[in-house]
Amino acid sequence: MTVNSKLAANQQKTVLVTGCSSGIGRCVALGLQRRGHNVFVTARHETDLKNLKTDGLQAIQLNLNDSDSIHSCVANLLTLTNGRIDVLFNNAAYGQPGAVEDLTRQALRAQLETNLLGTLELTNLLIPNMRQQGFGRIIQNSSVLGLVALPYRGAYNASKYALEGLSDTLRLELKGTGIHVALIEPGPIESQFRANAFAAYKKYIDKRHSPHRDTYLAMEKRLNKKGAAVPFTLPPTAVLRKVIHSIESPRPKIRYYVTFPTYLFATLKRLLPHTVLDWVLLRVSRNEHQ
Ligand SMILES: NC(=O)c1ccc[n+]([C@@H]2O[C@H](COP(=O)([O-])OP(=O)(O)OC[C@H]3O[C@@H](n4cnc5c(N)ncnc54)[C@H](OP(=O)(O)O)[C@@H]3O)[C@@H](O)[C@H]2O)c1
Repeated sequence: MTVNSKLAANQQKTVLVTGCSSGIGRCVALGLQRRGHNVFVTARHETDLKNLKTDGLQAIQLNLNDSDSIHSCVANLLTLTNGRIDVLFNNAAYGQPGAVEDLTRQALRAQLETNLLGTLELTNLLIPNMRQQGFGRIIQNSSVLGLVALPYRGAYNASKYALEGLSDTLRLELKGTGIHVALIEPGPIESQFRANAFAAYKKYIDKRHSPHRDTYLAMEKRLNKKGAAVPFTLPPTAVLRKVIHSIESPRPKIRYYVTFPTYLFATLKRLLPHTVLDWVLLRVSRNEHQ
């Protein structure tokens, strides 16, 4: 199964990919379309929708923070597909940086609205059609930070841990329906993620009176850095490969690890005592304390 091979017509799936204005979503959508799938994409802003249409993609407006937008996206999609939806790739999300003790209720709520609540609302609106078809793939773009915690990622960690929990439960509940739930676990991937995280940091974190002020100054440098900020960063095609498997394989996996750090931390989490794992996680994030 290679990224560039073409599908037989009877293998074509109708796919919805969320968050396609940039990064992983855009790359996966274009890659799936090239393979011959019937791909629908979402973005929040008019200019992004226009660009996606110029690229030949079928684009629908969606803001996960707004229930009305989610309902109208689903209605538009199902009208365009005559009710068919084989695959939902829940990709849209962002990272809210900041120490846990500096997270306001508003900041955490905003993070969960997008990464968890909106994502689940969209999923639950599409499950009935998948049940009726007797086939569906729900693919969640989680993260290595849905498996292990890092300092200053508490809000994002919480959203992805919660996504992991809901997805594991959902998979058990959907057993026997023909609907499979898979989790993609990327480590660092080239995208607009850091730029968008920096915007969320500036919006919600007040560093002036924080005991973490010095760390924030170092963090600002990292979030502002152009190019790969951390070692082992891969292009989004690395995620595309796993998504293709999760859609097309007759036996999709439950979890797909992407990048060396994900394989490493998933393994260390199983093997190491908690205290030793904490020591390792503090070591890898130490550049934020310098
Ligand atoms: N890049 C990484 O290193 C990495 C690692 C692990 C996991 N991931 C996961 O990969 C997924 C894609 O992220 P990415 O790296 O491709 O980052 P990205 O380039 O920032 O893309 C994120 C996408 O999500 C959309 N989005 C954000 N808030 C939204 C909302 N309220 N409603 C609808 N769409 C919204 C963004 O749209 P706007 O342009 O409108 O903001 C954008 O299209 C996320 O789930 C992320 O957690 C990324």
